[in-house]
Amino acid sequence: MFLCLTFAEKKLILKKNSMNSQQTTDNRQQTSTISRRRDMTSIQKMNTMGFDVVAKHFYEINSLIELDELIKKNIFDDDKFLILGGGSNILFSDEYFDGTIIHSNLKGKTIFDSQQSTDNGQQSSFTTVRCMSGEVWKDFVDFTIKNNLYGLENLVDIPGSVGASPVQNIGAYGVEVKDCIDRVHTIDLSNGSRVTFNNEDCHFAYRDSIFKREENKKYFIVSVDFKLKTKGELKLEYGNIKDYLLKKNIESPTLSELANAIKDIRAEKLPEVGVVGSVGSFFQNPIVEFNLFQRLKETYPDMPSYPNDKGVKIPAGWLIDKAGWKGHKENHVGVWDKQALVLVHYGGGTPKEILDLMKKIQDSVFEKFGIEIKPEVNII
Ligand code: EPU
Repeated sequence: MFLCLTFAEKKLILKKNSMNSQQTTDNRQQTSTISRRRDMTSIQKMNTMGFDVVAKHFYEINSLIELDELIKKNIFDDDKFLILGGGSNILFSDEYFDGTIIHSNLKGKTIFDSQQSTDNGQQSSFTTVRCMSGEVWKDFVDFTIKNNLYGLENLVDIPGSVGASPVQNIGAYGVEVKDCIDRVHTIDLSNGSRVTFNNEDCHFAYRDSIFKREENKKYFIVSVDFKLKTKGELKLEYGNIKDYLLKKNIESPTLSELANAIKDIRAEKLPEVGVVGSVGSFFQNPIVEFNLFQRLKETYPDMPSYPNDKGVKIPAGWLIDKAGWKGHKENHVGVWDKQALVLVHYGGGTPKEILDLMKKIQDSVFEKFGIEIKPEVNII
């Protein structure tokens, strides 16, 4: 272990690190001190809903060596622990978390040399960028755009951390992060070994992956490798992107013009993170059977719908809007007036208030349409 090494040995490790660019980000993390446990810690700033939740124990991971120490102390043998990134997709059901919160603060980004690959018979050039899990997602996407790398531009301004992005396969404006993830590097919390998942191993699906399910508690995500094109085609098909660009007299946008357009479109519809508490989409868009869809379409000919191989996807935002909830406020919580899929916390409220509102909305949508809407947010 690093702590037992002599100074000469430490110097040798640091020299080796500086010689090998591929390992720079991971190994640089080995130089810091052991994580200190904090008790009865407020994690209000670590959940974008902004509820003042207090955690019994809290550790921040600044290095892999700190993580290793916690594994040796058997912290992860206790069932009641939670790995928390930016807290942008988590809803605590109580103001007290009776367990241990582990927060990744692993930082660093590495751009590797570009390589050639063949995609559907077409030659293309791509670059792998490795990003540590504790980086802020929106800053990372801005970084890739500044470096003229294509792939993540439709995912600008999504709150949360890089480590959380594969967990629920974040998506927006016709792109899902799985389209760009090459590998996910993790530590197995039962024995401290490094385990790398390639794209297929992650079992990505709509807002879902292996990490959201059984592996959630087994692996700590250290870094993610993104495979980004050095020259790519922009995806402009979703929603009103094209109309928005045309209004600005932009017919063939550059990478940053598209990213800025999506930032503007998002800002028009979604509450600003840090100002109004939310978790983005609170509910998943339900997929209904074709028969039910046909019946509803007769009554509601304007109902938006997206058929897929499992049935027909209906936007939950439209259902909630039609059920009359858009802009509704009660106590300290409510339904965002520009996007009914987003439940908001105006400050000073409790998780119970939002859970009560969730239940009322679910019941009313079921009563009106016979459709069950399920939360997208992870309720802890
Ligand atoms: N709609 C309404 N009223 C509303 C909201 C939506 O009628 O209050 C209608 C819209 O007019 C549109 C349809 O519902 O016809 C779909 O709306 P939108 O394009 O805004 O997308 P969404 O399905 O509501 C999804 C993602 C968002 C992502 C947007 C844009 C889910 C659960 N949500 O929302 O993701 O930003 O598409 O790609 O898939 C998030 O995950 O936090 C998130 C915000």
